[in-house]
Amino acid sequence: RRFSRVESGADLKDYFDRGDIASRENRWNFEIAWEVANKVGGIYTVIRSKAYVSTEEMGEQLCLMGPYKEHCARTEMEEIEFPRGNPLLDAVNIMRSRGYKIHTGRWLVDGNPQLILFDIGSGAWKLDQFKSDLWEKCHVGVPHLDVETNDAIILGFMIAEFLEEFRNRALDYSSVHELQTPRIVAHFHEWQAGVGLIALRTRHIEIATVFTTHATLLGRYLCAGNTDFYNNLDKFAVDEEAGKRQIYHRYCIERAATHLSHVFTTVSEITGYEAEHLLKRKPDIITPNGLNVKKFSAIHEFQNLHAVAKEKINEFVRGHFYGHMDFDLDKTLYFFIAGRYEFGNKGADIFIEALARLNAMLKHEKPDTTVVAFLIFPTKVNNFNVDSLRGHAVIKQLRDTINNVQNSIGKRMFDSCVKGHIPSPDEILTKDDLVKIKRCMFAMQRDSMPPVTTHNIVDDWNDPVLGAIRRCNLFNSVHDRVKMVFHPEFLTSTNPLFGIDYEEFVRGCHLGVFPSYYEPWGYTPAECTVMGIPSITTNLSGFGCFMNEHICDPKSYGIYIVDRRYIGLENSVQQLSGFMMEFARLNRRQRIIQRNRTERLSDLLDWRTLGIYYRQARVKALQAVYPDYVDEGSLYSSRSTLNFSRPFSEPPSPTSSRHTTPAPSVHGSDDEDSVDDEKELKELGIK
Ligand code: UDP
Ligand code: G6P
Ligand code: GLC
Repeated sequence: RRFSRVESGADLKDYFDRGDIASRENRWNFEIAWEVANKVGGIYTVIRSKAYVSTEEMGEQLCLMGPYKEHCARTEMEEIEFPRGNPLLDAVNIMRSRGYKIHTGRWLVDGNPQLILFDIGSGAWKLDQFKSDLWEKCHVGVPHLDVETNDAIILGFMIAEFLEEFRNRALDYSSVHELQTPRIVAHFHEWQAGVGLIALRTRHIEIATVFTTHATLLGRYLCAGNTDFYNNLDKFAVDEEAGKRQIYHRYCIERAATHLSHVFTTVSEITGYEAEHLLKRKPDIITPNGLNVKKFSAIHEFQNLHAVAKEKINEFVRGHFYGHMDFDLDKTLYFFIAGRYEFGNKGADIFIEALARLNAMLKHEKPDTTVVAFLIFPTKVNNFNVDSLRGHAVIKQLRDTINNVQNSIGKRMFDSCVKGHIPSPDEILTKDDLVKIKRCMFAMQRDSMPPVTTHNIVDDWNDPVLGAIRRCNLFNSVHDRVKMVFHPEFLTSTNPLFGIDYEEFVRGCHLGVFPSYYEPWGYTPAECTVMGIPSITTNLSGFGCFMNEHICDPKSYGIYIVDRRYIGLENSVQQLSGFMMEFARLNRRQRIIQRNRTERLSDLLDWRTLGIYYRQARVKALQAVYPDYVDEGSLYSSRSTLNFSRPFSEPPSPTSSRHTTPAPSVHGSDDEDSVDDEKELKELGIK
């Protein structure tokens, strides 16, 4: 499969003119997810990053809908009423007159899409009625105490009621204004939004529906329980397994939404395979996840950003490892893993085990190189630990003292030179200055080793990451070449220790390591790729399989894919530590070449390329409900193709003794990629 791509934003506009075709066709698209303007995990990234291309296509005919979550919506949503003479406003008003609280406006993200957020609390009084409706139509009974599912039911029924009203109003408008009959698609994401789809379909409302699943409930649970999942997918007694885990009712909602949708999609082939067995429906279309890729005006801006962000991480490391800064930051590599805290599913277990082996290999082979491994997984904490805070305070004090000394030296030298006298070394650095500096340096002494975590973790004895670190003896001793920093909170720029947001952090690192076992897509390595940061993924993640399928030799582009499917655990750990060691052997020049190559892949992950599958899903659903529907925008699908062959020059060699220029090409001097590599290095001013 090759991907079509619209070459630039301007082209997209030419095709759709921000909803021109859609409005002519009186075609509407609603996209519904729990994570609309509500950041939880990767689904938020899907909806948010796709908003730009979606609005280019649909303009004001697009509306995103979800629950109103104040903490996020307050900062991300600009509340605005819809204009008069618009069926959206009429439907909102009808809902409000029934007592529902609804927030409307625009999402403050690229594309600035329209938003309708429903206040779950305002629909809670109808929960019993909604539940009995669900029971009568589908025989799904939901336990009273499952608040999450109760909320999903309230949201779902409110949305279905809204869409029904919207359709009626849009029909009225079309007859008054002699428009085409409205054609409406409602695209629901994940089981938590699935109730809305079930309600629409069981009430026989003429709206085309798409259901996308980003994981299956059972899959996530079964994998977290150390099951040999992929070899037994066809053997699970699904009802029984769901019942044992007390998620039978949720599973029924997920399965009902899957089967009732006109078009069913999953985010990757591997999740499609999982859905076929666990939800008993094969997806009609695979809708891989993209990103809103922004190109910098200077081609190598991302390399400069890496250097700037790395300096910020260096600053953190100086504070965290104060008193033990016996390693050279110029020869230090930053590796990281990040995501929701699903220890086994995200592969944190094999990451820590492989780090222990990397530690041994580095001690033996490259003792002057240090790897600092960051683990970013949010969990329950009681604030920062004192040792971490102290480290940053003493480093700050040293920096301030040295700045003061530096200023007073400058002043003294100037005063002396003005008088025609060049000061002697004793006059330049006075005894007083030395005392101040020594005092700071003594404050930097510490008896303990630098902590492996930045926070006090609640129930730290049972914490899986800390448990694995203890088992592997990775305690940040002087002899360790791999140092550990567990940051049990997502990164934000307001964080007093790290003062850096997640994107900047990723840019400053050298390698993202995501050896997931259960990962329907996996945004974290995809985000690394578009920022030009190499990463490790697996052949069990949607992203890893996608890259494997579309790039010949992904490793040479900085995408390392660990086999977690066809070999045993021990072999996967060995392969992972081997990849990390291979990366640690690269010299700076080779890392720069590799980053350039990684960044070249971003077009493949751009929504401008991948948005096409969402369009296909919508068109298919529309044609199921309105058989006469003809897709006017079909031209969009037949654009130029993208493919990534193996770079002709070898990937940057693992051995530092090899050529300092990229390997002489076996294909001769017209080797395109090595020419690219060389050109890019020249632009960066690197010989
Ligand atoms: N993420 C974040 N801050 C962090 C770490 C991760 O915002 O400190 C985001 C990351 O950018 C990514 C999402 O969390 O978009 C995780 O998505 P992924 O698909 O990898 O996993 P999920 O959590 O959905 O299973
Ligand atoms: C970027 C910058 C270079 C810098 C390099 C560091 O490429 O443009 O100026 O030397 O990053 O790379 P490293 O892999 O050592 O962090
Ligand atoms: C889910 C999956 C993750 C995927 C995300 C977006 O949360 O766990 O792998 O990237 O959805 O599709």
